[in-house]
Amino acid sequence: MSQQRPYVVGNWKMHGTRAMLAEARAIDRAGQRHPKVEVAIAPPFTLIHAARKEAEQIGIGAQDCHPVDGGAHTGDISAAMLADAGASFVIVGHSERRSNHGESNELVRAKAESARKAGLGVILCVGESEAERDAGRAEEVVCGQLEASAPQGAGMVEKLSVAYEPVWAIGTGRVPSNADIEAMHRAIRARLQAIYGAEGDDIRILYGGSVKAENAADILGVPEVGGALVGGASLTAESFYGIIRAASGENVD
Ligand code: PGA
Repeated sequence: MSQQRPYVVGNWKMHGTRAMLAEARAIDRAGQRHPKVEVAIAPPFTLIHAARKEAEQIGIGAQDCHPVDGGAHTGDISAAMLADAGASFVIVGHSERRSNHGESNELVRAKAESARKAGLGVILCVGESEAERDAGRAEEVVCGQLEASAPQGAGMVEKLSVAYEPVWAIGTGRVPSNADIEAMHRAIRARLQAIYGAEGDDIRILYGGSVKAENAADILGVPEVGGALVGGASLTAESFYGIIRAASGENVD
């Protein structure tokens, strides 16, 4: 097992105006109190630059990027632009992008590769639907997504994390059993080793989907879980702090 710090990342999705910068500051203070945890947030594009200026220590990232550096792509944002705005990482392949925007594995892979070329860390999301799990196809689906969307080429593994997010657990309050999380994370690890060789040993595999202060310690204690990607519970410093504390090994009352 790797000795890396747990990585706890808040995905703010399409939430947040400048009023939420106060939460970013408070999350930053929480991160400073828990140096054993690597804390980050991915606010909407519009807040990245301001959040970077407000926060001293936590990582600030984006929720998506376009696969090319620039050009006639109205409304899109490139990885180079994100780096320029102060982002240090980007989430790619989130299931809401795969479903709302029809993103294919090939597109997700191109986004991941352009982000790495721009020097950004990448959190590559994979996860099965409920129907796929019920059909006994969860591992096959997740490993297939991974195989087809993992970035390829020199320098891609460094700063790459994978987030396993079962689609049916996102925003629903439902979470897989610890045994199911462990089995999937082990399958992802094996696939990462097949893709990247020994370098695949150190890629952090985050769990995402209804992580809360109440279940975080339990989930983060599962073998091969290297952190959490948190949606709803990252929107206030108060709720996110409970997860940061759990990741640092403190009891949450
Ligand atoms: P949730 O979202 O924590 O609100 O379930 C997780 C995610 O979509 O990254």
